[in-house]
Amino acid sequence: GRVAVLLGGHSAEREVSLQSGEAIYAALISAGVDAVKIDPVDGLYEQLKSQNITRVFIALHGRDGEDGVVQGFLKTLNIPFTGSDVGSAAISMNKLLSKQIWQQLEIPTARFSTVKHGESFSEVDARRLFAKLGSVLFVKPVKEGSSVGMSKVKTPQELISAVKLAHQYDVHALVESYISGKEYTVTVLKGKALPSISMQTPREFYDYEAKYESTTTEYFCPSGLNDIDESEVQSLALRAFESLGCTGWGRVDFIREGESGPFLILEANTVPGMTESSLVPKAANAVGISFEKLVFHILDTSFS
Ligand code: DAL
Ligand code: MG
Repeated sequence: GRVAVLLGGHSAEREVSLQSGEAIYAALISAGVDAVKIDPVDGLYEQLKSQNITRVFIALHGRDGEDGVVQGFLKTLNIPFTGSDVGSAAISMNKLLSKQIWQQLEIPTARFSTVKHGESFSEVDARRLFAKLGSVLFVKPVKEGSSVGMSKVKTPQELISAVKLAHQYDVHALVESYISGKEYTVTVLKGKALPSISMQTPREFYDYEAKYESTTTEYFCPSGLNDIDESEVQSLALRAFESLGCTGWGRVDFIREGESGPFLILEANTVPGMTESSLVPKAANAVGISFEKLVFHILDTSFS
């Protein structure tokens, strides 16, 4: 059969997905796999049919690609695909639902509130959120990736603007307590956690530019955690991933309060980036898994 790499799409992470997909496609081709690239904006159904696709590698990030929509479509067509199934993809894309599940399971996550588009959000409301959540806050669209539409704010006016920005991407804006500390990320591959990576950026936070455009972002793998902390963050990642029903492959992100505080979970990604600067290939490389081998391991997850 023939493999299709789905890439691009129409989400805010289109550009990232094109990079992930091109890298994956190149690895498959160089290994002699019969593969084609399909961008859903060019007509997904027609292309799947006309090219006789029997298996799909999903390299779409964000809306309609990572959130269960494409997964459900492929399922109804009986075409196997990589990674998580419909429901777990949908929940993982939604930071609010994910956090509610993790709270229930006592997997630590930053305190939060939400603001719905269309509801009034005045300066008084903004002040109330600072009083409730702390003096620095993070605002994010509930269902986005790559830090799109995200802001770090310190004043009621900034908070109001940040909520407006988040609402350009989503009906719900998530407002979280800002945690001052290092970010860690753990790749999950076929039920196992890979070594954690830590990131450091001179920017205000690990935003879109730090992720994809900056040359000043530093990555550490091994991340510098001691053995106890490393196994703690890895087991938290596996628990968090499995608690949402995620399978195959993915990446769970954390922020650690200070040097020795608890690891607070930020989110789970069911189609993490596979670009040149992405984290999953770095974690795989640290345990001797080349990019090409990694792509095959992920493709394998479509067989289960
Ligand atoms: N959302 C981006 C692609 C990531 O998690 O790597
Ligand atoms: Mg994400």
